[in-house]
Amino acid sequence: MIKIQTPPADAVPAQSQKSAPNTPSNDAPTNRPHPPIRSYVLRQGRLSPAQARAIDEGQSLVIPYAASLLDVDGAFGRHAPTIVEIGFGMGHATADIAALRTDENFIGIEVHTPGVGSLLKMLAERSLKNVRVIQHDAVEVMTNMIADASLAGVHVYFPDPWPKKRHHKRRLIQPAFATLLAQKLQPGGYIHCATDWQEYAEHMLDVLNQESLLVNTATGFAPRPAYRTESNFERRGLKLGHGVWDVVFRRA
Ligand SMILES: C[S@@+](CC[C@H](N)C(=O)[O-])C[C@H]1O[C@@H](n2cnc3c(N)ncnc32)[C@H](O)[C@@H]1O
Repeated sequence: MIKIQTPPADAVPAQSQKSAPNTPSNDAPTNRPHPPIRSYVLRQGRLSPAQARAIDEGQSLVIPYAASLLDVDGAFGRHAPTIVEIGFGMGHATADIAALRTDENFIGIEVHTPGVGSLLKMLAERSLKNVRVIQHDAVEVMTNMIADASLAGVHVYFPDPWPKKRHHKRRLIQPAFATLLAQKLQPGGYIHCATDWQEYAEHMLDVLNQESLLVNTATGFAPRPAYRTESNFERRGLKLGHGVWDVVFRRA
């Protein structure tokens, strides 16, 4: 398992500098034999009144963090293929994908309180019942709450690129976490990452190629799957003239 530590306040990833700060709900210690991934920064963010109201009214869709396995069927009230999205940001892609794929369960993990409010607001507005939200560090959630070989998929869209070389160890997609994600997939389950940062895209491809449980679905980068709609960070990257790269692997 991998542990998370709070990074220093000045260590904000370049693409996240304008985003509102992150506020995890719970930092209960768990078993942490692996080195940490300090993938996010903890700072207060502005919560709009509408987001605050959505959090108050959307508690039935929020799963509190616990260092024990989650009863996924109980949480959704049904048995269905389950996809975890790590770092959903403001949740636009999450809500769009859940609306498109109503026969599947989606668990969104995010530490950023305004993002949680934003997603819960969209879920209420669109009457979406197939999404649950966990506001906590994704590495701890994946380690402690998600059973091995239980997921149909994992989405990681536009994770903080941590572009400076000395910060690369803060990237979410790195070998130990890739192994953990692969172990959580059912045979045939997929991991779909996207980024607008070319060097991180190549790094993702290398890391996932080296994970023996996973097989690339494409030769190199994958064509963008039709279900992945444009997210806030993608739009920001495109405005800056960045390209976008998708990577899709399956558990053999
Ligand atoms: C660059 S943003 C991308 C957000 C969204 N996926 C998008 O495409 O707009 C990365 C997000 O990942 C979240 N994040 C980073 N590390 C995380 C972790 N360990 N657990 C949960 N969320 C994390 C951050 O709070 C941030 O909202």
